[in-house]
Amino acid sequence: LTLPNYSSSSSSSSSSSSSSSSSSSSRPVFALRADMDALPLQELVEWEFKSKVEGKMHSHGHDSHVAMLLGAARLLQRKIEKLKGTVKLVFQPGEECNGAYQLLQEDALDDIDGIFALHVLPTLPTGVIASRPGPVCAGAGHFSALIRGKGGHAAAPHKTKDPVLAAAFIIQALQQIVSRETDPLEAGVVTVAFVDGGQADNVVPETVKVGGTFRSLSPKGLSYLKERIREVINTQAVVHQCYASVEFMEDTPVMVNNVALFEHANRVGNSLLGESDVQLLPWTMGAEDFGFLSQKIAATIYGIGIRNDTLRSNRPMYSPHFVLDEEALPIGAALHAAVAMSYLEHNCVVSD
Ligand SMILES: *[C@@H]1O[C@H](CO)[C@@H](O)[C@H](O)[C@H]1NC(C)=O
Ligand SMILES: [Zn+2]
Repeated sequence: LTLPNYSSSSSSSSSSSSSSSSSSSSRPVFALRADMDALPLQELVEWEFKSKVEGKMHSHGHDSHVAMLLGAARLLQRKIEKLKGTVKLVFQPGEECNGAYQLLQEDALDDIDGIFALHVLPTLPTGVIASRPGPVCAGAGHFSALIRGKGGHAAAPHKTKDPVLAAAFIIQALQQIVSRETDPLEAGVVTVAFVDGGQADNVVPETVKVGGTFRSLSPKGLSYLKERIREVINTQAVVHQCYASVEFMEDTPVMVNNVALFEHANRVGNSLLGESDVQLLPWTMGAEDFGFLSQKIAATIYGIGIRNDTLRSNRPMYSPHFVLDEEALPIGAALHAAVAMSYLEHNCVVSD
């Protein structure tokens, strides 16, 4: 465990704090977060760590996040006398369904000054970490719309109000929001991901359901898309003499890395791994429920590489063939521990 070499004061501060041995919440309090949930997929990899539960597997690597945080716990335990504050280990359920929001509701994180998380990435080679200051993951919303027409026999279309045709126009019209209304230099996504309606080839159904997701890297962009999705669906339905009711599910907010905490983690990464292995991560339109925490607390998330072509740990996440390179585990554990320890050491309470 190598801590970054900040320019001053590291030797003189060693006796200044008496907080290390008192167990409860001496300040500052720094948290490390590992999400724990699996995905509803049947694992197709035959290996020692294959899921023992039918139809469920860790194809997002959250089991490795737990392992890394347990490794950090072990490293921190060894240095517990030297901690200049408190480290909280946060094992979070339900990342795929906004479990971080639940943590906030339960006041589990009330006394925390900063929080750090890692997520494995098969796009980065083992030994590399990457992130970026400010927005890093998109805010995401989900919509579903029930389009109600008037069903009837397909041979007498004039006696029906066809929700299938209305749905077809709605799907096309939704594509114009990003292509015609969003600034080309701002990222936005509107994807219709399901259509559900009709069963027989000679019956116009009464209703059709469509739904999907929309994303942006800014809260303003996200609320604009939401408003326009509602308007476009409602209006297009009326054009076809149908009625639509649009529902929105809980949004995941934009994940914004606190700049000072990002820079702190970057310095720790540089001294632990070397500057060439600490990279700038491109933006992603994927969502991360850590965004809920970043709205309330200084938070930063880093991607940690797991790709080794020999081990074939280059398969995408959400694949039933997903595997990871275990060499990443000690790196993640050391990074967690070093980010927390040196945060307390330098008391780099951040404000931005
Ligand atoms: C990939 O894994 C193999 C097998 O463990 C190892 O020999 C090799 O050094 C690794 N490659 C890299 C680039 O780390
Ligand atoms: Zn994940």
